[in-house]
Amino acid sequence: MIKVLFVCLGNICRSPMAEYVFKDMVKKKGLEKQFSIASAATSYEEIGNDMHYGTKDKLEEKRIPYAKHKARRIEKQDYEKYDYIIGMEESNLRNIQRIVGNDKDNKIYKLLDFSKNPRDIADPWYTGNFTVTYEDIVEGCTGFLEYLEKENIVK
Ligand code: 4NP
Repeated sequence: MIKVLFVCLGNICRSPMAEYVFKDMVKKKGLEKQFSIASAATSYEEIGNDMHYGTKDKLEEKRIPYAKHKARRIEKQDYEKYDYIIGMEESNLRNIQRIVGNDKDNKIYKLLDFSKNPRDIADPWYTGNFTVTYEDIVEGCTGFLEYLEKENIVK
């Protein structure tokens, strides 16, 4: 089982969008049984809250299924539970390390480091632009899945 945790600041916009985009992507390839996919926040701001309507609207527009979401904060124990802990921007990576400690097993990544054009994913909570967020997330998730296939991690 490949265990993936997507992480952003609030766990209501970017990381749940990545969670459902990636779930949909692996399901369409018939690979869903090989994965456990979830998302979490680094901050306490939105704990318990549902996804932002901008994220839900975008998932609905793209016909990507999603379930009832409840934002949660990443915990120190998640470091052992997951194989890939994937942040959206540089500040997420710093915050993740502050919570889980030293990345001794090299599990912490930035989503667009799996793309041909590594960069941060801007926070739509501030930009209001969920279209750019969605395109960036698809680019990152596509690159991540290609990486797993190329490295024979996914069969
Ligand atoms: P996200 O966006 O990190 O993509 O979920 C945010 C949502 C809420 C807050 C910040 C970012 N907030 O400060 O409440």
